Amino acid sequence: MNAMERSALVNTSTEGANVNIILIGAQGSGKGTQAALLVQSLGIVHIASGDLFRAASQEQTELGKKIRSYLDKGELVPDEITVQMILNRINKPDCASGGVLLDGFPRTVAQAQALDKGLQGVGQQIDLAIYLQVPREELISRLSGRYICQAHQHVYNIYTNPPKVPGVCDIDGSNLYQRSDDRGEVVEKRLNIFFSETIRLLDYYRAENKLAEVNGKQEIDHVHMEIMKIIKNWDRSPPK
Ligand code: AP5
Repeated sequence: MNAMERSALVNTSTEGANVNIILIGAQGSGKGTQAALLVQSLGIVHIASGDLFRAASQEQTELGKKIRSYLDKGELVPDEITVQMILNRINKPDCASGGVLLDGFPRTVAQAQALDKGLQGVGQQIDLAIYLQVPREELISRLSGRYICQAHQHVYNIYTNPPKVPGVCDIDGSNLYQRSDDRGEVVEKRLNIFFSETIRLLDYYRAENKLAEVNGKQEIDHVHMEIMKIIKNWDRSPPK
């Protein structure tokens, strides 16, 4: 999609639609990449559990060290830490109107139930859960080529989405780095957790008539266009 086509789509978009969306997808499926585009198109608040954890893990506190130990091993941070952190973020004033885009949370049915309960308490609900479907071999290849910018976590890929200058972010000029959990066995472990545990969320949101599935193997702009169509056609009435 060229800039003009994207602009046309955005101009007829659902900006200010106040829709609460969850992006579900395995590691490397493009949740962060699509979230950045949706923020531009919808003016929605993006909440990425992984980004919140990476920031917390830099703090020299007991909690920071505990979180870092889970990230380094590629294991899920326990629900009692995760749920509280996300609900605290959702309750901040910038999330009160305009909707939120959750990326990386929930990852277990217990987290999904806690989220529903927390949102009900403030008169909100999840409207749409969008699953980015990508085959496992493609995920491993994408993660091995991923680089992130130090300043704002902009995402690149040395094979499919390289920066103009190697090692430097196009947007803010900061250095790019490879995540420690994007290598070797840790990648396998993270993917195993997704395909055994997180995948159960599909049944959870399907049962609530909120699930939409997207082929995440298409080019980045095509995936974005498909997600935008789903959001534009989203039926605001409660699930039948
Ligand atoms: P987190 O940071 O959420 O990582 P993740 O889920 O493992 O997801 P990724 O960031 O790896 O992938 P992505 O889908 O965002 O892909 P991206 O857009 O970058 O979590 C990290 C850790 O935090 C977890 O392991 C856990 O310890 C903890 N954690 C987080 N949430 C938790 C929770 N709820 N409960 C407990 N613990 C939690 O794209 C990947 C690459 O592919 C990029 O290089 C990109 O350029 C490229 N790419 C993207 N789309 C395309 C495309 N369409 N075609 C070609 N290339 C593409």
